[in-house]
Amino acid sequence: MSRTVEIDLGDRRYPIHVGAGIIGERSLFAPHVSDRHAFVVTNETVAPLYLDRLRPALADASGVHIHVIADGERHKTLDTFAVLQNALVTQRIARDGVVIALGGGVVGDIAGFAAACYQRGVDFVQVPTTLLAQVDSSVGGKTGVNLPGGKNLVGAFHQPRCVVSDTATLATLDPREVRAGFAEVVKYGLIDDPDFFDWLEANAAALLDLDDDALTTAVVRACERKAALVVADEREAGVRALLNLGHTFAHAIETGTGYGEWLHGEAVAAGIVLAARMSHRMEWLAGQDCERIERLFVRASLPVRAPADLSPERMLELMSVDKKVRRGRLRLILLRGIGEAVLTSEFDPNALQATLEAGREAA
Ligand SMILES: NC(=O)c1ccc[n+]([C@@H]2O[C@H](COP(=O)([O-])OP(=O)(O)OC[C@H]3O[C@@H](n4cnc5c(N)ncnc54)[C@H](O)[C@@H]3O)[C@@H](O)[C@H]2O)c1
Repeated sequence: MSRTVEIDLGDRRYPIHVGAGIIGERSLFAPHVSDRHAFVVTNETVAPLYLDRLRPALADASGVHIHVIADGERHKTLDTFAVLQNALVTQRIARDGVVIALGGGVVGDIAGFAAACYQRGVDFVQVPTTLLAQVDSSVGGKTGVNLPGGKNLVGAFHQPRCVVSDTATLATLDPREVRAGFAEVVKYGLIDDPDFFDWLEANAAALLDLDDDALTTAVVRACERKAALVVADEREAGVRALLNLGHTFAHAIETGTGYGEWLHGEAVAAGIVLAARMSHRMEWLAGQDCERIERLFVRASLPVRAPADLSPERMLELMSVDKKVRRGRLRLILLRGIGEAVLTSEFDPNALQATLEAGREAA
């Protein structure tokens, strides 16, 4: 059984279908591929696992071309983007062609950006196959690639026509990737949905064991929360920034440790706990709520501290290049309660310093 969440962006509204085993469902894809050329972008890991299951769903397309890219964040580059553009030309994909992204957030981001730019924009469909991509990157229309100078520095807003999230595809995912995606799920409960946080406390084990019902419930709820923020603020001028809860700390950890050592979601877990502890230090968040947050991540075997070798000074330096800095002032997303996140530059710098000093792993 599948469920559907609608992203209501007027004439660009689109459905997110969520359920176990839906990747091959022709009826979900037909409205977007019928009598059109489908250009599927996937990677070398996902292709052997899921291409054969997707193919029957594209039976109504007038032609299907498969483009396989190398696996990994380091290939989310302008070079790969250029290869995709040239392949779209070589395959004679016209303006009514449709790009289909089959894979995790890396494939989704680069395929979406290719679709945003090719002939000034063609349709695209997301078929996310990681938990992070199903609850976050496939929804909301942010696409892009990395530059040597930083992550996601070149990109475009380009909403998909449809998202098909088959939760059964998560069965082949590395458990570490599942846990990293779980951190992003918890984020939604903390931003503005305390009931969802309660539900996650009660259902964490089932979710991490990839129980079908638990997964569908969590992915649907996360997409509903993300949809609300995207609809309110498509281009991140305001409330959409709350989706970055924990991310200012997380990006500092990722850059400070060298990309690749920590998974993004792992850094987000530690970052959220640092934001919670700082909120507690400022007497915004009750001690018991701070402990509940930390306990949930510990249960999922996620890190809750910054690495020992990242000094508070280095963390601060790395945090000061965050995209949320405005007019030289660092802005942080902090918690006034579970389900009450706020973006603010009105924080106590001593509380930040003390949090960073206390929030490191033992050397
Ligand atoms: N656009 C957005 O709004 C947004 C939001 C958050 C993150 N992102 C981006 O998403 C990317 C991270 O995405 P991710 O965590 O999905 O990483 P990823 O795409 O690198 O996938 C993680 C790994 O899992 C493999 N994989 C994917 N699906 C699988 C499956 N079903 N079975 C087995 N292996 C599978 C991949 O090949 C890869 O090795 C980053 O580039 C980040 O910047 C974008």
